[in-house]
Amino acid sequence: MESGKANPIELPTTTTTTTTTTTTTNGNLHKPLINTKHFILPVTTLAILIILHLYIGNFSDHRLINPPAGNSTGGGDKCNLFQGSWVFDDERETYYTNESKCIIDDRQNCMKYGRPDTDFLKWRWQPDKCDLPEFDAVEFLEVVRGKSLAFIGDSVGRNQMQSLVCMLAAEAYPIDVSHTNDTRFRRWAFPPYNFTLVAIWSPLLVKTRDPNPENFTRNSLMNLYLDEADEAWTSELDNIDITIFSTGQWFFRPFTYYEKGEIIGCHFCNQENITEISLYYAYQMAFKTTFTTLLNLQNYTGLIFLRTFSPQHFENGDYNNGGNCIRTKPFTKQEMKLDGYKLMMYSTQVNEFKAAQKEGEKKGLKLRLLDTSDAMIMRADGHPNHYGHPASDNKSYPDCVHWCMPGPVDTWNEFLLEMLKMEGEGFIERTPQRNTTKLNLR
Ligand SMILES: *[C@@H]1O[C@H](CO)[C@@H](O)[C@H](O)[C@H]1NC(C)=O
Ligand SMILES: *[C@@H]1O[C@H](CO)[C@@H](O)[C@H](O)[C@H]1NC(C)=O
Ligand SMILES: *[C@@H]1O[C@H](CO)[C@@H](O)[C@H](O)[C@H]1NC(C)=O
Ligand SMILES: *[C@@H]1O[C@H](CO)[C@@H](O)[C@H](O)[C@H]1NC(C)=O
Ligand SMILES: *[C@@H]1O[C@H](CO)[C@@H](O)[C@H](O)[C@H]1NC(C)=O
Ligand SMILES: *[C@@H]1O[C@H](CO)[C@@H](O)[C@H](O)[C@H]1NC(C)=O
Ligand SMILES: *[C@@H]1O[C@H](CO)[C@@H](O)[C@H](O)[C@H]1NC(C)=O
Ligand SMILES: *[C@@H]1O[C@H](CO)[C@@H](O)[C@H](O)[C@H]1NC(C)=O
Ligand SMILES: *[C@@H]1O[C@H](CO)[C@@H](O)[C@H](O)[C@H]1NC(C)=O
Repeated sequence: MESGKANPIELPTTTTTTTTTTTTTNGNLHKPLINTKHFILPVTTLAILIILHLYIGNFSDHRLINPPAGNSTGGGDKCNLFQGSWVFDDERETYYTNESKCIIDDRQNCMKYGRPDTDFLKWRWQPDKCDLPEFDAVEFLEVVRGKSLAFIGDSVGRNQMQSLVCMLAAEAYPIDVSHTNDTRFRRWAFPPYNFTLVAIWSPLLVKTRDPNPENFTRNSLMNLYLDEADEAWTSELDNIDITIFSTGQWFFRPFTYYEKGEIIGCHFCNQENITEISLYYAYQMAFKTTFTTLLNLQNYTGLIFLRTFSPQHFENGDYNNGGNCIRTKPFTKQEMKLDGYKLMMYSTQVNEFKAAQKEGEKKGLKLRLLDTSDAMIMRADGHPNHYGHPASDNKSYPDCVHWCMPGPVDTWNEFLLEMLKMEGEGFIERTPQRNTTKLNLR
């Protein structure tokens, strides 16, 4: 069933939302993988969408939320929220629709582009030994009152962020308070709750440079500095209480790898004098660098999540030679498990996470795993496929990497709320202080 090792980074949908014409301070780094002609909404339309968000409605009174009821939330030894199965629930309603007052990226707006089947919206996640409660926007906003939460990573991380904004929009209108027009960096305020949601574009988590930005293509060779955390996020940490890191697909593209400023090897670089190095090594180092940076933060008692590898589901070919994802219901856990390179990506990141978590415990740094991979490997039915663009656009490849909105990606935020509730009251005591001491990677 697994199509050959698709190179999912090469999907035209892998980066950026609809505004791409703005320049950024790191222009070369942030150049989109696709040119603007592929975008469905002209920039002006986007501007209108953004203006929608400036509308401030009447906010309902803040309701006080009781602490989570003991065993219903899983956790502890009793229940692993992430082990379970998908259960069909005909009564289940989506948390938002394509008409809700929030931004759904066109490329994940499956209902807008005529996806005919809707059963994929009706499966709920049933952990084996407890229940995963439905998402409650008021409850979420109470838990994060006065805090800031950042999604740091690639476009799949942004997919979760946009899902969360839409799930919260049911209770409080998100206000766009972004510092930039670059839609890869977003900042949403929820004033009644003094809550800020931030999206930081850092698709590899470590520093990357494009030696030939003007000739950027999905297969061009970029430099990846495995022992240097990406300043896009390190520079923002001071103001963030909760971080959700994720990265994956970008590691499949060609890179020259650097450590200590020197070339140590490459991946798909086709240069005889440079050693080919496994992308798993690069993936591991990116997490080692990320976690080391976080562990070196002075007096940081914040909460850090790693959202695990999000599997793609191309079948019948790769993304660019006929592969697609046309299923309309999930696999069972007997039918489909993480394996092959997906399992390698997953274990690589989880091993680094566990090592860091142990270190973190000694220092009061809380690292948590948003362990969505097992659940999502079953959701071959949850991707846009070719419902991420108008039917008249027959040049776009199917997208079996990102997730339809609404869709199973909303479950990630059900998990997130449960995990936040498990932290209990006052789970963040101090805001982060950066440790400016030089990184000391072994
Ligand atoms: C929402 O989806 C429905 C189909 O489910 C479609 O008829 C409608 O045009 C869509 N609306 C928007 C605003 O995309
Ligand atoms: C939670 O605890 C109550 C009482 O102890 C018990 O009846 C119930 O079955 C438990 N629920 C779960 C999901 O374990
Ligand atoms: C909002 O939250 C910030 C950070 O916790 C805090 O400094 C500020 O006083 C809060 N503002 C209000 C109006 O509660
Ligand atoms: C964003 O775009 C608008 C309209 O093009 C422009 O007026 C504004 O200066 C831009 N803001 C930033 C921060 O670049
Ligand atoms: C970019 O590609 C064009 C066309 O292939 C080539 O002429 C140009 O020299 C390239 N630029 C760089 C900096 O490599
Ligand atoms: C590898 O060879 C190319 C072409 O001869 C050269 O431009 C490049 O600098 C060499 N790289 C290293 C690391 O020696
Ligand atoms: C800051 O980082 C350095 C280098 O890793 C480390 O030796 C030092 O203990 C850190 N300081 C604190 C307060 O964590
Ligand atoms: C970290 O905490 C210690 C003990 O509370 C304090 O002495 C020190 O000044 C703090 N460091 C920073 C950078 O805030
Ligand atoms: C698909 O694209 C080709 C070439 O660009 C065009 O001739 C054809 O009419 C298109 N088909 C549809 C259904 O839009």
